[in-house]
Amino acid sequence: MNPLQPFILGIESSCDDTSAAVVESTVVRSNVTAGQEVHREFGGVVPELASRAHQQNIIPVIEAAIRRANIRKNQLAAVAFTRGPGLLGSLLVGTSFAKSFALGLGIPLIEVDHMHAHILAHFLEEKEIPHAHPSFPFICLTVSGGHTQIVLVRDHFDMEIIGQTIDDAAGETFDKAAKILGLSYPGGPVIDSLAQEGDPARFTFAKPVIPGLDYSFSGLKTSFLYFIRDELKKDPGFIEKNMADLCASIQKTIVDILVEKLRYAIRDTRYEIQNPASSIQDPGSSIADVAIAGGVSANSGLRQTLLEMGEKEGWNIFIPPFEYTTDNAAMVAIAGYFKYIRREFAGQSVVPYARMKGRRTRDEG
Ligand code: KG4
Ligand code: ZN
Repeated sequence: MNPLQPFILGIESSCDDTSAAVVESTVVRSNVTAGQEVHREFGGVVPELASRAHQQNIIPVIEAAIRRANIRKNQLAAVAFTRGPGLLGSLLVGTSFAKSFALGLGIPLIEVDHMHAHILAHFLEEKEIPHAHPSFPFICLTVSGGHTQIVLVRDHFDMEIIGQTIDDAAGETFDKAAKILGLSYPGGPVIDSLAQEGDPARFTFAKPVIPGLDYSFSGLKTSFLYFIRDELKKDPGFIEKNMADLCASIQKTIVDILVEKLRYAIRDTRYEIQNPASSIQDPGSSIADVAIAGGVSANSGLRQTLLEMGEKEGWNIFIPPFEYTTDNAAMVAIAGYFKYIRREFAGQSVVPYARMKGRRTRDEG
């Protein structure tokens, strides 16, 4: 094996997707994901069912990832797995498998933080496809079903959360709005697709007033619920008659809330960079590279709005390829690769963590 081109197996099982991937340094060789239909009828992820489905899916998914990468398992240099945050029962399946697989093959085990991995997905490359990635330092809006964060990314592992939601996440808000409208889970992609035909200016919803760079979405969720309830009293056919406009309007509201704080973050971070006490090496420059990551970064309204803002404000916008926005193991594998070259390995006693680490998220291994 060429030591510069290690094959890393990544395993992701933090929520309701069982995923395995192989990267050859930063190049994706395979990325296989099994979703879990079982949650659809419950309108959200049922943790016990998720763990059970991971147990059923994990071996076929890993076998497929190794087969599609066209390698043998003894060519793997290390096994990287998501340690957290996420659902504990789900994380345990990936963690236990990764431990025994690494032990069986006699190769290092690497723990990966799920939110770091979403950001590091920007560095994934496809063979023979030119790829531009953001330059350090950059700002990343990380928006998923469980998290909404503005992260200052100084290098692959030095990341600081400079703003985050104090209650619901953006993806959760999409999912709850969809549930109120009687749409299926996960609601984000459904709202996105129905919004294409709708008028985003038709309905307006109150936006939260939260100081600093933090977000709040619980008030929006409640006002949407009450608005729909009141309109249904007047006209039981209200949702059906206005579905596309409702989807377009709630999507626009969520996107507007997200990008407003992002704009402030870029403005404020410029001052931080000019501060000579800052750890950033180039005190004269401002942040020009802006990225989005996580499941909600698949949203077409968010993508479009950011591209337009980037054009206007002179930011370089980085949006990951669609398949690396929602949960996937390629992002875990590349995070594993960056740790592999730093020789940051985990011991067999490692256990998952359900909750996010602190605001300052420098990964201390
Ligand atoms: O990152 P992810 O796959 O899992 C978590 O780590 O949570 O994100 C899932 C979230 C769900 O809330 C889902 O509704 C949302 O991402 N999502 C979207 C879209 N695709 C996925 N939200 C809005 N528009 C989309 N196109
Ligand atoms: Zn995620």
